[in-house]
Amino acid sequence: MNSKIRVFSGLRPTGRMHLGNYLGAIMNWVKMQETHDCIYSVVDYHAITTPFKPEELRRDTRDMLVDLLATGLDPEKCALVVQSELPQHTELAWILGSITPLGWLERVPTYKEKASMHPDYLNLGLLSYPVLMASDILVYRAEAVPVGEDQLPHLELTREIVRRFNHWFGDTFPEPEAIMKKETARIMSLKEPEKKMSKSLGEDSYIGIGDDPETIHAKIKRAVTDMGPDSTAMGPGVANLFNLLQIFGQEADYLTLYEDYETGSLRYVDLKTVTADAIIEGLRPIREKRKEIKSNPEILENALQLGHEKASAMATKTLSRVKERIGVGRDVNI
Ligand code: TYM
Repeated sequence: MNSKIRVFSGLRPTGRMHLGNYLGAIMNWVKMQETHDCIYSVVDYHAITTPFKPEELRRDTRDMLVDLLATGLDPEKCALVVQSELPQHTELAWILGSITPLGWLERVPTYKEKASMHPDYLNLGLLSYPVLMASDILVYRAEAVPVGEDQLPHLELTREIVRRFNHWFGDTFPEPEAIMKKETARIMSLKEPEKKMSKSLGEDSYIGIGDDPETIHAKIKRAVTDMGPDSTAMGPGVANLFNLLQIFGQEADYLTLYEDYETGSLRYVDLKTVTADAIIEGLRPIREKRKEIKSNPEILENALQLGHEKASAMATKTLSRVKERIGVGRDVNI
């Protein structure tokens, strides 16, 4: 009997992994595989709710999987899966969708955001996105979900769905909790530091974990270092750079530069150079591991096969329990 707490989390394969993903979520994924029973997924069905190109989607899915292994996910310690390869996710989503009131979905902030970004691409998938997400988590009956802050409304909706399901059909699912670390829950864009780092804000707004050292230097050099709302408060761009330095750099460098900031003698160019160097150094092991995985494709194939076997057994068990609870399927006793 496995007594470890079950964990699930997912990542959309839209382009390559960036520092927001890595610091906000994936670092916790890697840590939790040591102590928890973890299933992690590249959620390709979520990626088709906004405009996409089939050949890019398939390539991005593979790249994301390689990135995940390169960051330290160990197929012996966690199950790594591709969402579309486990039909149980979408099957449960249909069931959960049938007990989720439309009003709950229409209130979700990311739906409103994405609907305004792609007004010509409004579809049912986009509206029911959080139901599929709830299903990803609940099909494994996961209790903990390591994510960045932007996913909290989705998690809250998942909990509401759980309460309704359990109330109507009997105790079936645990209410999952978000796992976050305050300093990394929301990494900001380099170009618009009042918004979260994301690929949709353009190349210069994020650092990809696969970016080469020159690109990282160039992007950090172009990062906005604006003044705060008043001259006594630290601007969000500067705060973001300090945050990155604190995460990746030496404590002594951070303290020295912070003191310079407080005494008014900080040169932003120094902050940027030291921060860029620290990030480059911090990402070096990931860059090296990725090269190794790319030249040995069987590493990924084996990881996925192992992950699929583990995850599929769990998901099938949940679905048969759920179907029994809601009364679908034939009554075999007649
Ligand atoms: P996605 O693919 O947008 O992001 C993957 C993870 O990265 C985190 N993240 C950030 N954290 C801090 N600062 C940022 N700037 C930043 N940008 C992204 C996200 O919070 C997320 O944890 N809906 C999810 C995918 C998903 C999922 C799930 C997650 C599908 N099913 C089930 C958890 C459980 C999404 O779009 O994440």
